[in-house]
Amino acid sequence: MKKYPPIIRQIPHIAHGGDYNPDQWLREKDVIWKEDMRLAKLAGLNTLSVGIFSWAALEPEEGVYNFAWLDEIMDLMADNGLTAVLATPSGARPAWLSQKYPEVLRVNERREKQLHGGRHNHCLSSVVYRTKVQEINTLLAERYKNHPALGAWHISNEFGGECHCPACQENFRLWLREKYDTLDALNHAWWTAFWSHTYTDWSQVESPSPIGETSVHAQKLDWKRFTTDQFIQWYRAEVEPLKRITPGVPCTTNLMGIYPGINYFALARELDFASWDSYPQWENTEKDVETAQFFSFEHDLTRSLKDGRPFFLMESCPSATNWRPYARLHRPGVHKLQSMQAVGHGADSVQYFQFRKSRGSSEKFHGAVVDHCGHEHTRVFGEIAELGKTLSQMDEIVGTTAPARVALLYDWENRWALEDAQGFCNVDKKYVESVMDHYSALWRKGVSVSIVDEESALAGYDLLIAPFAYMLRGDFAARVDAFVQSGGTLVCTYGTGYVDGSDLCQLGGFPGPLKKTLGIWAEEIDVLMPGEANHVTFDGARYACTDYAELSHLEGAKALAAYEDDFYAGYPAVTVQARGKGRAYYLAARFSPAFLDAFYARVLDETGIAARALPDGVTVATRTDGETNYAFVLNFAPEARHVEIAGADFFTGEEVTACELPAHGWRLLRQKA
Ligand code: GLA
Ligand code: ZN
Repeated sequence: MKKYPPIIRQIPHIAHGGDYNPDQWLREKDVIWKEDMRLAKLAGLNTLSVGIFSWAALEPEEGVYNFAWLDEIMDLMADNGLTAVLATPSGARPAWLSQKYPEVLRVNERREKQLHGGRHNHCLSSVVYRTKVQEINTLLAERYKNHPALGAWHISNEFGGECHCPACQENFRLWLREKYDTLDALNHAWWTAFWSHTYTDWSQVESPSPIGETSVHAQKLDWKRFTTDQFIQWYRAEVEPLKRITPGVPCTTNLMGIYPGINYFALARELDFASWDSYPQWENTEKDVETAQFFSFEHDLTRSLKDGRPFFLMESCPSATNWRPYARLHRPGVHKLQSMQAVGHGADSVQYFQFRKSRGSSEKFHGAVVDHCGHEHTRVFGEIAELGKTLSQMDEIVGTTAPARVALLYDWENRWALEDAQGFCNVDKKYVESVMDHYSALWRKGVSVSIVDEESALAGYDLLIAPFAYMLRGDFAARVDAFVQSGGTLVCTYGTGYVDGSDLCQLGGFPGPLKKTLGIWAEEIDVLMPGEANHVTFDGARYACTDYAELSHLEGAKALAAYEDDFYAGYPAVTVQARGKGRAYYLAARFSPAFLDAFYARVLDETGIAARALPDGVTVATRTDGETNYAFVLNFAPEARHVEIAGADFFTGEEVTACELPAHGWRLLRQKA
């Protein structure tokens, strides 16, 4: 195992910085910018992300450019030891552009053309917009290619949404022609004989709409795939001049965890490094543990998108956001804890939205490094500066990885298909919750997890967990079977293998292509009413299951537990089958955390994966260079915890056998790998 080089060449440290909008302060720049540099250094920052929404300042009139202010900021940053994450400005555009070229405005799914305003809302097919963006990206790259402050490119901002304008419809049809070749193939894949939806001419095909097509699920699925491809094409168009002019400067776009609109596994293949914007809401109650589990999962997901390489935490909030229902302050210490959580899961940066609070408009009350008071004597600034000092001692962590023997399946396409399906529980399918059930069980044991999708390689893992894998697409099932045959352990659940990649039901019994692997046939699935439970006895203890209970038959597997209630009492609820050199488990119902704790204790033990005994609310996230492990012991409980874990304190070298962690406490230990 090796360390990866720093993501930004100029920053061989944990990067510390954030979104900076000096263009909002052009009138006061002589005072404010200078002060900004002083404050940034005082806070221990080494990077700032600039230009994210600067188009209007850079090109106030079409073809009339003003780079002077950005030149000045880039120079100031270089002089002050700050490296720029320089953005392309396509996330928002000047009013003149929308006015002169209305084709750049999006059309929503109800076919309503949008007015100018907001951000993140250009048409993805607009040739004019693409040309304009490539022009300004080219100018930025040419101008700053040799600038010492240029560290990385930040492409646009938080790609999202979709456009249903006529040009996008046309591109959708072209995309479908490419995919299906004939209308006959499309009609079969989409099962359009249903309700007489058969298409007889390509021009009849439209994107889904609440005032049009909603019932052909494969059509909706293809629209989502198409939208992901639109963003991939868009990203490629944006980086084309950058790659040509500044080939050594890495590019990314800031992702949003499990944002459902884009298949990030596909988009991330284009990125040089992954980055994301993380905004946990901490309440200072027991609920924080669940929040911590979810955000740990998203950190692991972001890391996994680039095969485990370190990523950037491009945005986080040092205090209250402006957009949560309750703009709750981070309690003292929480900021450091959430930052260590990110680093522990593979982030090589802690960055904020935002450096200085806007004076007006919608984000004027969003947490920032520098508040409206304008000086450093604030609680939040103090915590950031303290974190800055801590991070500056952590260069050794940069480039280390968080390898895992456990792969957990989280698949965007499966989510799209499952959540769109009519059936099961239409109130909430609970796909994300199902994935989190398993992730959380491993989090409680401090086990490292990589997140995979159905296209990811499975080599190198010993345990594959595939919750609610409703849609088995491509060669995934065949590769899963090979994984088991060659010695891997598989865990599947209710709702596995109902449909193929076109959302067509598997004929011949569920779980379709995994029937032989799992050795069961799932005949029916019962949806339990809210508050209702069934029960099983497993390894001597009784556990509840809720939400879903599948009625299945053994076809080679053996039952480890059976339902105890209702007309299907006696049906197998937990099964295992030995296959080749491996084994495959099936959990027919959605089980309680207590069950999953017991179940994974057994599975991890069999698989030889070390689990830790940790108190409630505590986890351990481990990074390593292959020789030294860096164990981040993190307490998300609203109370103090005693944790039995041995190692040398990273900062003091003190050898410990246990950690006493206050509420929101953490400790970083060095251990031998
Ligand atoms: C997103 C955006 C930022 C900012 C923050 C506020 O992450 O990328 O520009 O609006 O949200 O939390
Ligand atoms: Zn469009």
